[in-house]
Amino acid sequence: MASKVSPALAASRTFWAKPIVGTPRSLTASPAKASKASVPYVARPVLATINGAQLSSKTHYTAGPNFLSQKRYYASPVKQVQYSADVTVPPREQDAYKVKNYNEYSSRNYAYFMIGAYSFVGAVMAKNIVTDYLVHMAASADVLALAKVELDMASIPEGKNVVIKWRGKPVFVRHRTAEEIAEANAVNVAELRDPETDAERTKNPEWLVMLGVCTHLGCVPIGEAGEYGGWFCPCHGSHYDISGRIRKGPAPLNLEIPAYELNDADGKIIVG
Ligand code: FES
Repeated sequence: MASKVSPALAASRTFWAKPIVGTPRSLTASPAKASKASVPYVARPVLATINGAQLSSKTHYTAGPNFLSQKRYYASPVKQVQYSADVTVPPREQDAYKVKNYNEYSSRNYAYFMIGAYSFVGAVMAKNIVTDYLVHMAASADVLALAKVELDMASIPEGKNVVIKWRGKPVFVRHRTAEEIAEANAVNVAELRDPETDAERTKNPEWLVMLGVCTHLGCVPIGEAGEYGGWFCPCHGSHYDISGRIRKGPAPLNLEIPAYELNDADGKIIVG
């Protein structure tokens, strides 16, 4: 079957469907495929020599009333390559192309796989290390038990002090009388070394909770002592008033107020 394609028709065809120059050795019509296609289909295998190249069984021919075209394609595992009919690629070069690309892409895929595998293993190891570290550094149960201390309000009569230990430090809790509250509020705050109102130092004026550590050098003051009826530090003579504010002596600051809660419903003072 000879090719009879005009230049205009050839230009309208796709890249790969151009008329061939040459005559295949044998062409066999395929009625089944021809009925589906708009043009008759010539089934493979077809062996022919076109432009000096031997066509393999992968070569497809399409025959029309005025033209004969072929499509040859070669596939590798990663890329399909199409050649037009009028491009002659020696079979040896085709094989080399396929082998080169197969080696290149397979080695790249292997590298990706190894990078992914090592990344996964590294992430798991890092997670285990961090988890072990956090478990090791977490506070033990006995330490957590000491984090908060509960005190029963009913156990402290009005006008009395109680000293409890919290995190290794003494905590003074005083159930103050109405007179003591009035005395604490009567102080001119502007004259204080460390100005603080009594309201700023208490959540409920009846209950004064503070660290029993002198702000001078850390001695433990004595309750219900000193010139201001509060606490007195015998180490260097610091006097604190009934609100725990420094009034005389070398201490620079008022006695510190720790974190605490008053649970009136349960009658508990929770320090910490
Ligand atoms: Fe209390 Fe010095 S430590 S006055």
